[in-house]
Amino acid sequence: MKRLNVGMLGTGFMGRAHSNAFNQVGRFFELPCQPVLKCCYGRNVETLKAFQKTWGYEEIATDWRALVESDEIDLIDVCTPNFLHKDMVIAAAEAGKMIVCEKPLAMNYAEAQEMVAATEKAGVPTCVSFCYRRNPSVMLFKQIVEENRIGRPFHYRATYDQDYTISSKVPVGGAALWRLDANVAGSGVTGDLLAHSIDCAEWLNGRISRVCAHTEIFIKERTNAVTGEKTPITIDDACMFMAIFENGSVGVFESSRYARGRKNFNTMEMNGENGACYFNLEEPEYLQFFRYADPKTGLKVEDHLTGWQKILVTNSEHPYMNRYWVPGTVIGYEHYFINQIADFILQASGGTPVAPVPTIADGARIQKVCDSVIKSAQESRWVEIE
Ligand SMILES: NC(=O)c1ccc[n+]([C@@H]2O[C@H](COP(=O)([O-])OP(=O)(O)OC[C@H]3O[C@@H](n4cnc5c(N)ncnc54)[C@H](O)[C@@H]3O)[C@@H](O)[C@H]2O)c1
Repeated sequence: MKRLNVGMLGTGFMGRAHSNAFNQVGRFFELPCQPVLKCCYGRNVETLKAFQKTWGYEEIATDWRALVESDEIDLIDVCTPNFLHKDMVIAAAEAGKMIVCEKPLAMNYAEAQEMVAATEKAGVPTCVSFCYRRNPSVMLFKQIVEENRIGRPFHYRATYDQDYTISSKVPVGGAALWRLDANVAGSGVTGDLLAHSIDCAEWLNGRISRVCAHTEIFIKERTNAVTGEKTPITIDDACMFMAIFENGSVGVFESSRYARGRKNFNTMEMNGENGACYFNLEEPEYLQFFRYADPKTGLKVEDHLTGWQKILVTNSEHPYMNRYWVPGTVIGYEHYFINQIADFILQASGGTPVAPVPTIADGARIQKVCDSVIKSAQESRWVEIE
């Protein structure tokens, strides 16, 4: 079978998740080509060699531009901190590669626009890693919306909470905590966590037209992990915003890294005329659904037996699940990335993905909403998203 040679940029959390996905995808999906872990890039040779051994890369590289430009590479996967995404994606586009890029797409919308221009000029297939869409329960949520089982939507509600930066002893910068450094991350929870929530919200409920936000920095100075010096913190530790959708429904979004007890509490809920749906990433194999009216007739079906259904999303009728195990056996976090790579390769090769993957242009749109949220918080006012 034809090889699809992958060049991986970044050997951290996402470098691992994506490498695993490329290794596994051909075992669960019928694809027109076989992804091959050709070369991985990193700065530290020892770390790189260990990464190569663990995941089975054929080669290593300490010069990412040379890797991106190599004739032997078909697909570049950008799994580095946010400030590197723009240059890496543009170089990959100019070299004519297929591109996967982690979220948030860029440091800001201006950068994102440059990335859209470069990838559209090159005409290369792209995918931004909004991986939660590829959770079977979230994909079932989308199906339920499309089947009109929510009906006219009134409310959209999303949270994305974690608790790992509460201690003032947590440093800023360096390998582990670059997310707290505005020069590397761009923004705090807005780009890191709410970008996912906004992506799912617009995918499920259509575009957001206006936002009104407040952000908070709870610990305003931290020790820099590299220099040892006290460093001011300028990223948002918490962000909450109200949103008005183009379809007239209203939304509330909330995210924090100070939500004690919450590890990856990514939830989304929609309430409409016909029904409601709720997903919580801390119980990822379940989708909750409330049925009020028949989606075809609009007639009420709620009775004394109606209540929230907690659906175990493991049947072969459920999205992606016919690729994996028998009903009742759950899949995990790593499978969202496997599903994402499968859908990207199928989409790029004219096959049939379960659902289209978000492109660089889609990622830029989410960046625009994130920028509007930050702007709204800075200026304490509603901001229109054109
Ligand atoms: N889709 C998701 O759910 C998800 C989850 C986590 C992270 N992410 C995104 O993935 C990207 C990477 O995050 P991560 O959690 O893997 O980070 P990480 O810190 O675990 O890994 C980052 C990698 O980039 C390398 N790197 C760091 N600074 C560099 C520099 N100056 N030059 C070259 N390489 C450098 C590191 O050595 C490491 O290999 C980020 O954009 C992040 O927002 C997405």
